[in-house]
Amino acid sequence: MSKMNSDAGMPIAITLEPGTYFRCTCGNSQNLPFCDGSHQPGEGCPLRFEIKEKKKVYICSCGQSGKQPFCDGTCGVNL
Ligand code: FES
Repeated sequence: MSKMNSDAGMPIAITLEPGTYFRCTCGNSQNLPFCDGSHQPGEGCPLRFEIKEKKKVYICSCGQSGKQPFCDGTCGVNL
């Protein structure tokens, strides 16, 4: 997942409603951090994740988190 907007280096704080989401992993989406279907064959697949209840989440933008799609602090941010 190293192509996930690696220049950002900070998590994306966003409040999500319950539902299914697809995190863009190729960087081609015009709707980052979510997939818009712009990926090409061989560029990887979006990362599907579920949100059970409305909450604020921190989406990893550096690609180094061990808890994708969420930031785990590897980037150095103190959540
Ligand atoms: S943004 Fe990737 S670990 Fe924090």
